[in-house]
Amino acid sequence: MCGIVGITSSKEVTSRIIGSLKKLEYRGYDSAGIATISENNINEVKCEGRVNELEKNVNQIKLSGTIGIGHVRWATHGKPSTINAHPHSSENVSVVHNGIIENSTILKKILEKKGYKFKSQTDTEVIVHLVTDYLKKNNLKDTIIKVLKKLHGSFALGIIFKDQPDLIIGARRGSPLAVGYGPDEHYLGSDSYALKSMTNKISYLNDGEFCILKKDQVEFFDSDGIKTNKEVLNLSKDEQNYEKDQYKYFMAKEIDEQPVTIKNCINEYIDKHNNEINIYNFPWKITDISSVVLIGCGTAYHSCLVAKYWFEQNTNMDVSVDIASEFRYRKIKFKQNALYIFVSQSGETADTFAALDLCKKNEVKTCAIVNVVESSIARDADLVLPIHCGPEIGVASTKAFLGQMLVLYLLCTKISYEQKTISNKTYQNKIKDLLLLSKCAKETLNTDNKIHNLGKDFANSKGSMFLGRGYSYPIALEGALKLKELAYVHAEGYPAGEMKHGPLALIEEGMPVVVIAPRDEHYKKTISNMQEVISRGAKVLLITNKSTDEIFSENIWEQIEVENISNELLPFLTTIPLQKLAYYSALDKGFDIDKPRNLAKSVTVE
Ligand code: M6R
Repeated sequence: MCGIVGITSSKEVTSRIIGSLKKLEYRGYDSAGIATISENNINEVKCEGRVNELEKNVNQIKLSGTIGIGHVRWATHGKPSTINAHPHSSENVSVVHNGIIENSTILKKILEKKGYKFKSQTDTEVIVHLVTDYLKKNNLKDTIIKVLKKLHGSFALGIIFKDQPDLIIGARRGSPLAVGYGPDEHYLGSDSYALKSMTNKISYLNDGEFCILKKDQVEFFDSDGIKTNKEVLNLSKDEQNYEKDQYKYFMAKEIDEQPVTIKNCINEYIDKHNNEINIYNFPWKITDISSVVLIGCGTAYHSCLVAKYWFEQNTNMDVSVDIASEFRYRKIKFKQNALYIFVSQSGETADTFAALDLCKKNEVKTCAIVNVVESSIARDADLVLPIHCGPEIGVASTKAFLGQMLVLYLLCTKISYEQKTISNKTYQNKIKDLLLLSKCAKETLNTDNKIHNLGKDFANSKGSMFLGRGYSYPIALEGALKLKELAYVHAEGYPAGEMKHGPLALIEEGMPVVVIAPRDEHYKKTISNMQEVISRGAKVLLITNKSTDEIFSENIWEQIEVENISNELLPFLTTIPLQKLAYYSALDKGFDIDKPRNLAKSVTVE
């Protein structure tokens, strides 16, 4: 993954590079580094750990310069360490890289034979030596063209040169890269978010392009060195001031924001005056769509799994769901009348982007459901449906999950109404229910106190299971994923009815098990399955919705009741206590909740 930034200017750049790196930490935070050119030298500062650590080191030695590149790392080749942190430099060249060079082992052997010495275990270092080698016999531009052609895999690169002290090379294949325009200076960044404090004028490199940035000039080229023209976009500044406020962690804030983000999203899509769902700019005839394919990774994939139930329930269409990293390598029979829907908070996830690219190459209809509307996935899809939930900083996805489900539900409801598989009355009722969702989510947040105490039991367990049927099965998967990534406890999501086919053997005395059983059509069956795990010693936390009806089961350890709403919308509410459970489990262990170990917010490698 990793994040890169570069600035060429006539003013001091060090503190601004550090500032941008802090914004990019969502892409990687195991190590960080910066290189500037001053007094005719490349000066490098690197460290294991966070950008705050790097900042201290930079201040200590008073690093300065009017040109520089910086990097935050999520290790792929070589463990997180100071030596493996970027930039990687020779005497004349310094490189930051996001992506993976797949042929680095072969290139390294060739370069070693030529006498180049390697200091790190990274794939990136081959780029430094390749550039140095080609520069011996080529001018700068030809060097870049030739080096990029030698590299297999994906990359976004920033390169500076000791003997060209106002020039940065940016290059992109696969991994995204943006260029920013300022007064007598130019910027390079993994995304516009990193550059927003400096400019709102941005261009994006297309796949295969490279650029030459000087403080007073930018030129873009295709992979053969032919000049390309670039559109300059004016970005909105509304996301600039997103802070933690009174919260200890962004995740807590993002969970609490959900009633508001639901409301914002609904306001964007529902015309309350006419009781109508608006899907603006839908480029095809809705009645021509005969099937949908839903694609995503991680939490986004779980939102697709929930949506499958909605589409099956309300339309006559075939629905399939795919994990993007699998989809991209399958032998897919693409269908012209299918709608391929890509769900991604960041809009930069490499696997999802590659799956979209595959669909584009096969000329099928593509739709992106994203949070970041300036992202690569949003820019490439035929139709973009934003989830309107504002920046999500915590690595664990929370409000974006609800936003993704919401837009999928709105789309499904609109399609089923237009295709006449639901009546006008049903359509109107669904809209009425949607208008209640924000309030119900707000009230469900009040389950907080109870969950706070339960976190300890999950945090200190050997492992736990999350069970559900129907819509609640993907919610069980999501609950388990949250607990794994935040509290580092093994947790497995399972269809409640599958337990007897093997996993029941895992249940032992005192094992915490979450059963998600709202009072829907699956309720009774799930309660029977719950009884089966209780009989084998499990401590069951039951998540259901409020009712005066008694629950016919004994020995339930704890019970949390969410608000009442239509069955189809219950997944939005049952998710909330699970997010909190994972949060409090991690809090109990004292972990860094916004930046769990080994992870990154935006997964831009395969
Ligand atoms: O940005 P995306 O929605 O494409 O990200 C997909 C997954 O990497 C992401 O949902 C991940 O699973 C989260 N950390 C889960 O909380």
